[in-house]
Amino acid sequence: MTPQREIDRLRESAEFVRAAGGEAPEVAVVWGSGFGELGSALEVSATWDYEEVPHFFSCSTGSHSGVLQLGRWAGRSALVYRGRFHLYEGYSAKEVVRPVRLASLLGARTLVLTAATGGIQPNLRVGDLLLLRDHLNFSGHNPLVGPADGFEPRFVDLTHTYAEGLRAIAQEAAQQAFSGPLAEGVYGSLLGPSYETPAEIRFLRAAGADVVGMSVVMEAIAARQAGMDVLGIASITNLAAGLGGGTLSHEEVLAVGREQRQSHEHFFHHLLRRLGPGTDSDRGVDPSSIRLADPKGNEQGEEE
Ligand code: HPA
Repeated sequence: MTPQREIDRLRESAEFVRAAGGEAPEVAVVWGSGFGELGSALEVSATWDYEEVPHFFSCSTGSHSGVLQLGRWAGRSALVYRGRFHLYEGYSAKEVVRPVRLASLLGARTLVLTAATGGIQPNLRVGDLLLLRDHLNFSGHNPLVGPADGFEPRFVDLTHTYAEGLRAIAQEAAQQAFSGPLAEGVYGSLLGPSYETPAEIRFLRAAGADVVGMSVVMEAIAARQAGMDVLGIASITNLAAGLGGGTLSHEEVLAVGREQRQSHEHFFHHLLRRLGPGTDSDRGVDPSSIRLADPKGNEQGEEE
């Protein structure tokens, strides 16, 4: 028997989600560590534990609830992942990006990736959010390695991995929520799960990284292959190794997420209501090609 191709596995996952009915998602959001309780305004039309979704896995990172939700949020039809799969859990890069590829098969054109990170850029403070402008992939992995398995193109251009237009929209949302702009910078990705050494942080800083984390990059690569527009948002949950003086722990990462919940909730609400069709016009995508679940799903008539 011919082994199943990755695209066929994901088509099964997509069939499963579609069978619940509901709208096709415009936007997919992946909540990372410390973000998992956000999105309380999501009007949920369907919820699944990850184990129920064909070809998904349970989340072994205890803080990730491992729940997939479909619904409406701030006027957008949204697919929300509460938790992600990491390379450090032992999943392959292809397995790590299944949620992103599923979102793309379901029709989502915009992907919001969030993640807890250690701050490297000197002006960052614990609790800040930072918009990703680019990344450094030091994980040693890439989801496009191996048989194409139905996913094209093989050689993906990553010049505009994090869409400039989406960053501009996020800055408008930040102005509303925080009365000021967010920092922007480069995400340095390592495999983990141990935190970095101070020497590694000095290396990352010299290489141009502003924050460090153990996720995001596989997902961003798969999303760009699928032609999705990516917005990457890092939460600074600690200063990176050797910069803060304390001991790094996952508990600290989660505590910062809890403390920031209210202000982050405001920001994401403003962001979601601004994420509509045409946000990728600066990248030459024809807005009429974007599949809209709700033809009335625009900003008009919505209150701030
Ligand atoms: N390093 C890597 N990943 C992280 C960190 C860190 O300091 N903080 C939160 N996730």
